[in-house]
Order: sequence, then structure tokens, then C-alpha cells
Amino acid sequence: MTTQFSVSGIELELFRYPSRQESNLQAWDAADEHLIKHLVDNEQKAVNSAIINDSFGALTAGLLSIAADWPLTLETDAKTSLLGTTQNLTRNQLNDASLSWVNSRDELPQGIELVLMKLPKNLNYFSHQLKRLSQVLPAGTPVLIGAKAKSINKSLLETIARHLGEASASLTWKKTRVITCIADGKPRPLPTTTNWLVPECNLQITNLSNVFAANKLDIGARIMLDNMPKGEFKSIVDLGCGNGILGLHAKQCFPEAYIHFIDDSEMAVASAKDNWTLNKLDNPELVGEQATFAWDDCLTHMNEGFRPDLILCNPPFHQGEAITDHIAWQMFLDAFRRLKNGGILHVVGNRHLAYHIKLQRIFKNCTTVASNGKFVILQAQKISKKAQEPEANADTAIEQASEAPHPQSALYGKPNS
Ligand SMILES: C[S@@+](CC[C@H](N)C(=O)[O-])C[C@H]1O[C@@H](n2cnc3c(N)ncnc32)[C@H](O)[C@@H]1O
Repeated sequence: MTTQFSVSGIELELFRYPSRQESNLQAWDAADEHLIKHLVDNEQKAVNSAIINDSFGALTAGLLSIAADWPLTLETDAKTSLLGTTQNLTRNQLNDASLSWVNSRDELPQGIELVLMKLPKNLNYFSHQLKRLSQVLPAGTPVLIGAKAKSINKSLLETIARHLGEASASLTWKKTRVITCIADGKPRPLPTTTNWLVPECNLQITNLSNVFAANKLDIGARIMLDNMPKGEFKSIVDLGCGNGILGLHAKQCFPEAYIHFIDDSEMAVASAKDNWTLNKLDNPELVGEQATFAWDDCLTHMNEGFRPDLILCNPPFHQGEAITDHIAWQMFLDAFRRLKNGGILHVVGNRHLAYHIKLQRIFKNCTTVASNGKFVILQAQKISKKAQEPEANADTAIEQASEAPHPQSALYGKPNS
């Protein structure tokens, strides 16, 4: 895996987040390089700028290498991007004093004179982002959008023109192009949420634009709903919660339980919270908080004292454009580390992802609870030999499990380039 970013005289060392991960994926791609090259070639001045969808800080670090005090607003929906950018700025001794962060729902500041953006995979979310920009950018503001050449077509340029202003694409360089859009200064209304029902669970679901399974129940989630674990669970984590569907149904099945929802996407966490309220899931017989919602990378920052007895997980198998199962591996390791002794990890996965090999390696046990042609539900139990020292025991097991490279599925991705 390459970590040396080198373009137009700018040299950086860049890692994905977390930096120690079982993947061979690069922290930037050629569209990042193209955007930086475009700015250097055009001798761009360090005007008040916004950077949107910078995966792990390549654009931010690139601009700060050109001018250390470049005033930047960084917008991201992914906590791993925020953490990765921060980590890469420190690694490259770049000062973050001229930076401010907003998430994908915060109000964007006025006075932005230039926008640098990466085209996200989710085009509904992209339209949402363009409309957000249309609300604050004065007419004439340039917006540079970097993307793979094969993702750019007439319909994409029309979408940009419809939501923000006229757009044209550069020549191709390293199979990427830079689209230049000039904001027309006309504010567009933001899109409304997408709403649907899960009638068999009597749940109403509302989704913001960058949330997984935007229009309907995911088929993996569907089989999870039909096969919830049996037991007396009191503290449950919905890991990678999306709109919260698994945690919401867990509360219906275990009304005494406390549910902790976590996702890397801020919009997902916000939707899970909205769905909790919408479905009135607080049990009136209990006092105190019954659910919490965290924008985080897996269980990285979960309160040390919190030991769940059940973790529900429908893991992602991509990160941005890259297809990878390293996040699933990280989720399983974190689950093993944080579960209480005897606690259960309940996972759904596409059969060909072979999650049972990973779970067996980490937990030393794995049971198939249900399956159909495409999906399997797997369960692994944390059984600590030294019940008094679950943390120490978890660390030893994790070290052993991590010694060999983690079992990779057929889906393991190629490095971005
Ligand atoms: C397959 S979706 C499952 C969503 C939901 N649980 C369901 O079943 O419909 C995986 C989820 O994991 C989230 N995710 C990806 N990387 C993550 C990370 N590093 N930490 C926490 N969540 C992550 C994604 O944003 C996405 O919502």
C-alpha cells in the first residue's frame, strides 16, 4: 500500500483511518491528485474555501501545504474522514488553526469563495450537497468537483446545473476529470426525508439522503428482523446502525433494554434518533435514558465502562468507492473487546463473505442461526476463560487473531488509484 502522496511538488504521507487496518487501500485517489494539480497549475490564491467529501484529508493537507493559513471549512458526513484528516494533518506537521468542521446537516458559513469537492458514490446525497451549497454561495463562486472520468456524463452535468449552476468537465488526466461549476446564486430548497414502513414490525422509517437503504428495508436487515436472538438482553448495541432498524426492533423485542446506536455516518445517526422518537420507543415503565446515539468509528470511543450483552451488526462491505471487508473485521474485533463475558455478537452477512471464518478466529466459536440462499445469520459468544479479566483476555485473543492476515473474502478490493 502506498502512503506517499506526491503531486505538483507537494509531498505528503497519508493513511486511511484507522491507520492500522487490515486493508491494502490507499488514503487518496487520482481525483484528489487532479484537484490539487488543477489548483497549482492555475496558481489558485488561498481564498476562503470549503472542502467537501475529503476522504482522509488529502485535499485539506494538500491545500495547507500550499499555504499554511488557507482558511478552510471542511464538510463531511463520515466520522472516519474527520478522524483520518486530523490524524494526517498531525502526521504531516500541518497546523489546523485555519480549519473549521461542519457535518452534512450543519449550516454552511457565508463568505465561501471556492469549493473543492469529491463526487460521492451516493448521487442523491450529492444532489443534497449541491442544494446546500446553492443556499450559501453567491453567484459566480467556482465549485471544482473531482471524479473518475467514467462517472462523469451528460446527466451528471445536468444535475449539477439544475441544483447549483452551469458545469463543464476538464480533459481526462489519470482517468479522472475536474468538473467546474459556477454557482448561479439561486437558493434551492433542501430535499425532504424518504419515508417508508416496515408493516410486520409496525415501524415507520425516515431516512436522510446519505443513509444506507434509503428507500426500502435492506434484505440483510430483513432476515435479521425475522431472526432476532433469544435471551434476556439488557444492554444492546446496534453497530453500524444506518436508520436504526435493528436497534428499533430490538427495543420492541426487549422492552427493558437500553439501546446504543452507532454509525460512521452523521446522517445515519440523526435518522436513527428521529426513528426512535417517531416510533415512540421509550418504555414508560422505565426511568432515565433508554437509548443513546453516537457518531463514531465502530466502538472506538465507546465509554470504557459500558459492557453490552448483545451487539447487532449488519456490517458494511465498502468504504466510499472501495469494496472491502476490513470494517467488518474491525467491528468484530471491537465487539469481542467490548462485550461482557457471555455476551453475544449477532451478525448478518452475504453468504459468500464468509464471516464465520473471521468470527471463529476471534471468538473461537460461531453458530449459524439462520440462512437462506443468499444470507446467513451468525452468532458468536464471548467466552472469557479468565472471567475476572475480560479485557486482558480479549486483548490476548485479538493479538492472536490478528497475527495472521485476516481471512479475506472474494470481495476484497483493489487499492484505489
Ligand atoms: C450494511 S449497512 C447496515 C445499516 C443498518 N444496520 C441496516 O441493517 O439496515 C452498514 C452501516 O455501517 C456503517 N459504517 C460504515 N463504516 C463504519 C464504521 N467505521 N463505524 C461505524 N459504522 C460504520 C455505514 O454507514 C452503514 O450505515
